[in-house]
Amino acid sequence: MTALLGFFLLLLQFGPSACSNVYIVYMGERSPELDPALVQDSHHGMLAAVLGSEPAAKDAILYSYRHGFSGFAAVLTDSQAARLADWPGVVRVVRNRVLDLHTTRSWDFMRVSPSSSVGILSESRFGEDSIIGVLDTGIWPESASFRDDGIGEVPRRWKGKCIVGDRFNASNCNRKIIGAKWYIKGYEAEYGKMNTTDIYEFMSARDAVGHGTHTASTAAGALVAGANFRGLASGVARGGAPRARLAVYKVCWATGDCTSADILAAFDDAIHDGVDVLSVSLGQAPPLPAYVDDVLSIGSFHAVAKGIVVVCSAGNSGPYSETVINSAPWILTVAAGTLDRTFLAKITLGNNSTFVGQTLYSGKHPAKSMRIVYAEDIASNNADDTDARSCTAGSLNSTLVKGNVVLCFQTRAQRAASVAVETVKKSRGVGVIFAQFLTKDIASSFDIPCVQVDYQVGTAILAYTTSTRNPTVQFSSANSILGELIGPEVAYFSSRGPSSLSPAVLKLVENTLYLLIQPDIAAPGVNILAAWTPAAAISSAIGSVNFKIDSGTSMSCPHISGVVALLKSMHPNWSPAAVKSALVTTGNTSSVSLLMIVLTLTSQHLAANVHDNYGFEIVSEAAPYNQANPFDYGGGHVDPNRAAHPGLVYDMGTSDYVSFLCSMGYNSSAVSSMTLQHASCQHTPKTQLNLNLPSVTIPELRGKLTVSRTVTNVGSAMSKYRARVEPPPGVDVTVSPSILIFNSTVKRLSFKVTFQAKLKVQGRYTFGSLTWEDGTHTVRIPLVVRTMISNFYVNA
Ligand SMILES: *[C@@H]1O[C@H](CO)[C@@H](O)[C@H](O)[C@H]1NC(C)=O
Ligand SMILES: *[C@@H]1O[C@H](CO)[C@@H](O)[C@H](O)[C@H]1NC(C)=O
Ligand SMILES: *[C@@H]1O[C@H](CO)[C@@H](O)[C@H](O)[C@H]1NC(C)=O
Ligand SMILES: *[C@@H]1O[C@H](CO)[C@@H](O)[C@H](O)[C@H]1NC(C)=O
Ligand SMILES: *[C@@H]1O[C@H](CO)[C@@H](O)[C@H](O)[C@H]1NC(C)=O
Ligand SMILES: *[C@@H]1O[C@H](CO)[C@@H](O)[C@H](O)[C@H]1NC(C)=O
Ligand SMILES: *[C@@H]1O[C@H](CO)[C@@H](O)[C@H](O)[C@H]1NC(C)=O
Ligand SMILES: *[C@@H]1O[C@H](CO)[C@@H](O)[C@H](O)[C@H]1NC(C)=O
Repeated sequence: MTALLGFFLLLLQFGPSACSNVYIVYMGERSPELDPALVQDSHHGMLAAVLGSEPAAKDAILYSYRHGFSGFAAVLTDSQAARLADWPGVVRVVRNRVLDLHTTRSWDFMRVSPSSSVGILSESRFGEDSIIGVLDTGIWPESASFRDDGIGEVPRRWKGKCIVGDRFNASNCNRKIIGAKWYIKGYEAEYGKMNTTDIYEFMSARDAVGHGTHTASTAAGALVAGANFRGLASGVARGGAPRARLAVYKVCWATGDCTSADILAAFDDAIHDGVDVLSVSLGQAPPLPAYVDDVLSIGSFHAVAKGIVVVCSAGNSGPYSETVINSAPWILTVAAGTLDRTFLAKITLGNNSTFVGQTLYSGKHPAKSMRIVYAEDIASNNADDTDARSCTAGSLNSTLVKGNVVLCFQTRAQRAASVAVETVKKSRGVGVIFAQFLTKDIASSFDIPCVQVDYQVGTAILAYTTSTRNPTVQFSSANSILGELIGPEVAYFSSRGPSSLSPAVLKLVENTLYLLIQPDIAAPGVNILAAWTPAAAISSAIGSVNFKIDSGTSMSCPHISGVVALLKSMHPNWSPAAVKSALVTTGNTSSVSLLMIVLTLTSQHLAANVHDNYGFEIVSEAAPYNQANPFDYGGGHVDPNRAAHPGLVYDMGTSDYVSFLCSMGYNSSAVSSMTLQHASCQHTPKTQLNLNLPSVTIPELRGKLTVSRTVTNVGSAMSKYRARVEPPPGVDVTVSPSILIFNSTVKRLSFKVTFQAKLKVQGRYTFGSLTWEDGTHTVRIPLVVRTMISNFYVNA
């Protein structure tokens, strides 16, 4: 009874009233000469009229958006929302949504630090002129990564502020952190007032979690010598643009949740404040909302219209196709790749057989050997065997776990080593061997040793435990190992294209199918060492650390944000589309290995590249696994130096994006209201084939088809490019003209690409490329074609 009452009171006290929700109300185009203050007044007036009084309106309104676009967020009942939707000047009313951070925090991968290169760094003066806005969990300003030594004055054009709050005062901003704001109204309207007694959190831009500190320092962290995570990955930590400025917009809270009303308010402010780049490592899991309803697509559209490059993570829902999110064509969508390092520990069984596994555990190991037990053999009486095998919570008999190392096997239902570690730790086990499928989604930084091994190794260890009455095991501590045989790969978890969004209106006309190549680019996102919040110790198992290794597309996104900051310092006038083209056309596809490399570690001898003297050799076996393609990595793995000098760019502007939205089948009023630009969709082509993207995708090739593109010369004025085509299998591709000659007056040239299907079968997507070369530059775009049987569709 009391408990029930308590719950009820909590709801009354903190929750929005039962039938009220947060709504975002989009208004028509704001005339640029209108004073933002007047716009805000008009929002209040309107709301007062619907709610009946000024005070009611003041209570209900959360944000008034008035810089990039017009509108507001307010707590409304459904019927109030419906009335507002009919109000003159209101174009759309949508519910607040909850988005997530894109880290795989619980899976803690391993490996090393961000790298970028000397050329672009010095040419861009380390990004000193660029301002990166980061929408995340805030920042730990005392981190060495945010020192401003040697950085010049704050750019004059900056209009942002450093807002003081809980443990965050004006002196926490400097010439590195030049803005700090936080947004919680939408969150609190959804979840109730933040109680910092229950949840470790700061009511300010201060980061209680670590995620925002990690992403900000990856994008723009200063050089910090001797950074390491408990002795691992030791070296110089630095961000992509070490002298770029940071503007912190805290929109996500310690629970990992972020709401669209808060995010939109941050976009609105960032546009006003004058950032050059926005780094957004969060998003909403599929199923995806339509572009015209998606807060990230709307906020980013207005930012891009103002010349701000918006970089977003692709999501962590891989390896399945059609999992990519944040896929609007004006966004730079980033996949995660691996680095070429790993952390290994040796496992010695009681019969002296040895194996190697991956671990981030660097604490002390018991010197003597420990007893090892197989999880399924110590299942709790009432537990399912499969649950026990994977060490699912509650599946093991505590009495039998205590004091032992437990051998667990990943299952489809329970993939996480962290879950196994929690289960074993709870029952006072002393270690875990976690056997997993041949993927790279591994590792852990826990407070008991957990060594992750391939299934094959796990099976051998299991054979040993069943072969003897008293099986034992001993671990060595972890060591960093440079695995030169492992090329960068697309990380297992990285979300894959194509986008699952389909046109709003499906018409049985050729090539109306929506298909863009996304993600756009891959960057390191596995085992990234970057700054962390020491305070996060309170809520995590790893203790207080100043740097931490973390993985996810959350980590790859700020790598690209840092590179974009460098590019913007060098080329301040490049449009967001030009920046994207520069990155995509210079991406390295050969470094995104075509094969999944399976690491088999044998106990026989020592390889020169092993940093310790275990006596092992790393034998790499290339096993045909999953041929990576542009739907995994877009243009390839980022190559910052080449992106600085792309030669040619495929440029686009706002009107192209409006045409794109029309081609998606949204009607003129929906497109006009989203873009705040006049759109007349009935006059725009229904195909996206000629959109000037740095890629060509033909989802339905029947016979012959020609598309056009235009390139802008951003290299030396006099230059001559030749086309080189690598046709997708089963397709003939011709380019006309095949030579492009630029001079001081001719800076833009168009060309046509004709595709002819050679096969009369319903094909799969096949991949090729078109490269323009002038002897210095290599401007490569992917070609993606699927051939269809003619007349496959019945004419409607
Ligand atoms: C700001 O806070 C720091 C501690 O975080 C303190 O040392 C400093 O005196 C404060 N500065 C001001 C101006 O309040
Ligand atoms: C926060 O939670 C604590 C413990 O649950 C409670 O004692 C306190 O009254 C709450 N504070 C507020 C402001 O509601
Ligand atoms: C394992 O090696 C140790 C030291 O070399 C030796 O003392 C021990 O007898 C060996 N055990 C087995 C089972 O071979
Ligand atoms: C755990 O194992 C002990 C010893 O075998 C047994 O007595 C007990 O019933 C088991 N408990 C559960 C919950 O399985
Ligand atoms: C240890 O036991 C496993 C499993 O029974 C076996 O495959 C392996 O050969 C043994 N190693 C030694 C050195 O006897
Ligand atoms: C791509 O990367 C590989 C190694 O990862 C390198 O050998 C090659 O030179 C790179 N290609 C270009 C064009 O830079
Ligand atoms: C435009 O589309 C929206 C939904 O996206 C719909 O509500 C509206 O009625 C449509 N307007 C017209 C004029 O068709
Ligand atoms: C550039 O090329 C165009 C077309 O070939 C030509 O008409 C024009 O005179 C050239 N301009 C210069 C400055 O050479």
